[in-house]
Amino acid sequence: MEKEFWIEKWHRNEIGFHQNDVHPDLKKYWDEFTEKKLKKTVFVPLCGKSLDLLFLAKKGFHVIGVEISSLAVEQFFAENKIACEKKDYSRYTLYKSEYIDIYCGDIFEVDFSEIQMSYIYDRAALIALPLPMRIKYAELIKTNFPAAKIFLCTLEFGHLDIGPPFSLSQQQVNELYSSVYQIEQKEMRSILDSSLWVHKDSVQFNKHHLFFLTPKDVR
Ligand SMILES: C[S@@+](CC[C@H](N)C(=O)[O-])C[C@H]1O[C@@H](n2cnc3c(N)ncnc32)[C@H](O)[C@@H]1O
Repeated sequence: MEKEFWIEKWHRNEIGFHQNDVHPDLKKYWDEFTEKKLKKTVFVPLCGKSLDLLFLAKKGFHVIGVEISSLAVEQFFAENKIACEKKDYSRYTLYKSEYIDIYCGDIFEVDFSEIQMSYIYDRAALIALPLPMRIKYAELIKTNFPAAKIFLCTLEFGHLDIGPPFSLSQQQVNELYSSVYQIEQKEMRSILDSSLWVHKDSVQFNKHHLFFLTPKDVR
């Protein structure tokens, strides 16, 4: 998936994936997922202008997002009336606010070497990417944040090769992550709501999954 594809999507306001409320699974499961441990840092890859960022910040976490579209990032801070400062790096720009920072750039070009994450919240990130990029993305996550637990929301449906969103089965999640994470499925439900970010012509096959991924060597 080319970078320009997403930048164009934002310019045309074709953002069917954006939700006007916090994701229901995040509200339902976040406390259980974090086990009410110390409030730490949450990474939100491919974050768009999701209200989930606000939910996590209000829960007391420091939130770090990455998003390729500057329009999305500008809209996030403006629409939520959050003051931020901008710092330009050679390949990306960092928008910094009190509780939420967003790296605006290609996730594969951001330098994460100085950043430690306790948790990763992946909603519509992995499934936004076609297979070769998905493998690269999973490697990035495993290499840069080996100690982070992952809250992973995915979709599965009949068409395997058209997207985004791209279908992801439990078996594919296992292939990408089971070497280093213990994978626990928390939810699996059919999606009948055609307003969601799904393929309208295969709505009857759509399934939503939620997984908790816990690093094996730090359990
Ligand atoms: C399907 S949307 C999900 C957005 C958000 N997670 C949500 O739940 O609303 C995927 C987002 O990833 C961004 N994106 C796609 N490729 C990216 C990349 N290589 N680096 C950073 N952001 C990217 C897109 O601009 C888009 O906003």
